[in-house]
Amino acid sequence: MTNVLVIVGAQWGDEGKGAIVDFLAEKADLVCRYAGGNNAGHTVVVKGKVFKFHLLPSGIIHSSKINLLGNGMVIDPHVLCEEISTLEKQGFSIDENNLAISSRAHVITQNHIDEDLNKGGKVGTTGRGIGPCYTSKIARTGTRMGDFVAAEGKFADKLKPMVTDTTHLVNESITAGKKVLVEGAQATLLDIDHGTYPYVTSSNPSAGGACTGLGIGPTRIDSVIGIGKAYITRVGNGAFPTEQGTPEEMEKEEKSDSCTEEDISRANSNEDYFVGKVLRRQGREYGTTTGRPRRCGWFDVVAMKYAIEINGMSAVVITKLDVLSGLKKIKVCTAYEIDGQPVKWFPPDNNTLSHATPVYESLAGWDEDISSITSFDKLPLAAQEYVKRIEQLMGVPVAILSVGPGREQKIVLDSKELL
Ligand code: IMP
Repeated sequence: MTNVLVIVGAQWGDEGKGAIVDFLAEKADLVCRYAGGNNAGHTVVVKGKVFKFHLLPSGIIHSSKINLLGNGMVIDPHVLCEEISTLEKQGFSIDENNLAISSRAHVITQNHIDEDLNKGGKVGTTGRGIGPCYTSKIARTGTRMGDFVAAEGKFADKLKPMVTDTTHLVNESITAGKKVLVEGAQATLLDIDHGTYPYVTSSNPSAGGACTGLGIGPTRIDSVIGIGKAYITRVGNGAFPTEQGTPEEMEKEEKSDSCTEEDISRANSNEDYFVGKVLRRQGREYGTTTGRPRRCGWFDVVAMKYAIEINGMSAVVITKLDVLSGLKKIKVCTAYEIDGQPVKWFPPDNNTLSHATPVYESLAGWDEDISSITSFDKLPLAAQEYVKRIEQLMGVPVAILSVGPGREQKIVLDSKELL
């Protein structure tokens, strides 16, 4: 039985974790975030209504849940208060009954933001002060939420009732048999230790971070599920073997969520940039936090298998399968070639990865719009074959397929590991 389930990003972020957490949150008593801050952006669509979160866990729109911001997070009090006010204006009530903020989480200050804006360009950070705040934490010069709310001030007064010892709360809840959903932000390949350093974030978004970022022991976790898109994207700089088109070509492109027939036809003639453009536009691949266009590429099994190992994933969720509709051939990267040698293991450094040439397997695509299909066997055969093939290559089962942003657009294939 799964009582404590950790959800992590399996790629470079933006895999659609928010919508999956929202879907799974129905059965959870607690929804907890453990790392990162408002560099994250989660979009959840409920009955056509769009909610965007940066700090609050996606469970916040389920009235009966406790939502928890763990000690591993970095919190900008101004942004958190704004996010709470926005939801309050939409009719939600947010207080100590449904939101618990760790007194040990670190506070992002204006100095952190200024430093990030001045120095984050090389990595392509989100400019939210994340790295400098974690730097202060490690240098032991930071301010924690407990100290922040002990001093008076507009934001401190608003947040004070919700700031508490979340470590005790989460452990007590697990002991009492409550269902705990742990929501990762960012993703494995952006992990400060396991990602494509230095083009990474400054925390541990992978499953190990759930233990340190919440104060729970590894034996408390029953299951880890990784979320990956049916293709892959990256925001910011760093190596990206299966990227289609260059960042320079992408920068010249107009932001839009529709493609022309010419775009699709040129993508189907194997013009890399057009494949990237079709994925970006059909997938609405523009950052929730910064609005930046995302670099897009084919599904990368080497990266996925690495993420499966790093996190100890027992299943994966594949999102945005609908975005591939219209592509005649769909490629999957099964290995890399680096300096003339075949490589099946994700290299430990960004420089080596930047020399990796993907080895592709080509699979048949499909034309149909699949966004309203609710069972696997109703999917076009080519879509079924695609999912079965990547499942076989990854070596772990696909628990859920997502064919659109709404709750009703999730197809459960295997519920064993779910709450
Ligand atoms: P930072 O987390 O703002 O320091 O940014 C470091 C790197 O992580 C940059 O390449 C960002 O684009 C990337 N990053 C941070 N948060 C996210 C996210 O939620 N999705 C995708 N990329 C992210």
